[in-house]
Amino acid sequence: MKIMKISIIGSGYVGIVTGIGFAELGHNVIFVDVDENKVNLINSRKPPIYEKGLKELMQKNKRRYHATTDYYEAIMNSEITFICVGTPSKEDGSIDLRYVESASKGVGEALANKDDFHVVVVKSTVLPGTTEGVIKPLIEKESGKKAFEDFGLAMNPEFLREGNAVEDFFNPDRIVIGVKDEKTKSILDELYKQFNCPKLFTDIKTAEMIKYVSNAFLATKISFANEIGNICKKLGIDVYKVFEGVGLDHRINPAFFRAGIGFGGSCFPKDVKALIRKAEELGEDPKILKAVIEVNEKQPLKMIELLKKHIPNLRNKRVGILGLAFKPDTDDIRESRAIPIIKALIKEGAKVIAYDPKAMNNFAKMFPQIDYANSAKDVIAKSDAILIVTEWKEFEELDYKGKIVIDGRRIEKAMKDTKIYEGMCW
Ligand code: UGA
Repeated sequence: MKIMKISIIGSGYVGIVTGIGFAELGHNVIFVDVDENKVNLINSRKPPIYEKGLKELMQKNKRRYHATTDYYEAIMNSEITFICVGTPSKEDGSIDLRYVESASKGVGEALANKDDFHVVVVKSTVLPGTTEGVIKPLIEKESGKKAFEDFGLAMNPEFLREGNAVEDFFNPDRIVIGVKDEKTKSILDELYKQFNCPKLFTDIKTAEMIKYVSNAFLATKISFANEIGNICKKLGIDVYKVFEGVGLDHRINPAFFRAGIGFGGSCFPKDVKALIRKAEELGEDPKILKAVIEVNEKQPLKMIELLKKHIPNLRNKRVGILGLAFKPDTDDIRESRAIPIIKALIKEGAKVIAYDPKAMNNFAKMFPQIDYANSAKDVIAKSDAILIVTEWKEFEELDYKGKIVIDGRRIEKAMKDTKIYEGMCW
């Protein structure tokens, strides 16, 4: 194996996991971030985000990486740079490229001083055409060099799941690499040699599209499962049994049919919306994608409907929330379904008490007006009704006896012994 020098721009969960993953494989890694706080955390070998297994790998490989705010230092001392900065949504759902643009400028300015061939790899999720239409001209302008000749440029989308990102880094289903020039192709081929999975080389905009289509399809599966689940609920059918039967067809596959209260997170909502905006810009009317978002926005509010079936007036009622993170094993609350649910409860005049093993600090910044409990047990003890919003493992161990439970995530334990139990789609 050839040991490579890699720099990573942006130390969010994609950047930090990718960089530490490469360090574990034996490479030398430099992280670049504008946030000094993150740089200091990384340099003291502490993860800037919570991600299972990351802390241990940061300790284990502590001599193979460091962090800096200085692009110049990072580019001069590496041969490959991964751009891993965030691509958030603007108000209208379209993609906000400001971090990608400033990263491209930073890389370009530093490259102006470098004689050796350097490969820039875009890992940030960007719409088809962005790498060649936005990033390439910025780097070329700042560096005075020509892409695909003086420096390499590629697009390598990430498919890491938060909470599972470390494991996903080492065991991907596939690696997609969008390239144009042969030199870049062979450098990336070498970098990924150790990975034993299909590797698909495409042109750059196809690689960009594969990322969006993967996320859009997974989001579509979830909204489809929820729509079918809502019908099943009215028919008295358990949608999980239905999808068990449906998923056994190898053409369909059983994954991502977990019906409940819909998808959150930093990727699915933003990526589907960005694809919709792009399609509209091109004069297309993406009906399926729009319905995916519409179903997802209505789904969490169905929880309140089910709750009001049993407690019609929620004013001053104590409603307990189990789970605030957008999914288990993360402290991330971006687009968490807990947000619309708690907003609706506050509007109804309910008194909300919430618990999450990891995400309470993040949530309290957004919702300081609700109560936070020390434990899940505490929530159960103090509530007139309980809503299960995230499927943390520890919620399977609780005693729900005699309680009213509205379950958004199918916690088996809650299905037994409760006074009243309502599953979202079962
Ligand atoms: C997702 C993709 O799964 C990754 O492949 C991708 O790399 C990532 O987005 C990204 O673009 O960065 P992530 O958002 O971390 O990963 O989480 P998922 O496990 O996909 O879950 C997303 C949401 O869907 C969660 O709120 C989860 O509760 C919900 N979900 C998932 C369901 O409601 N039902 C399911 O069957 C599966």
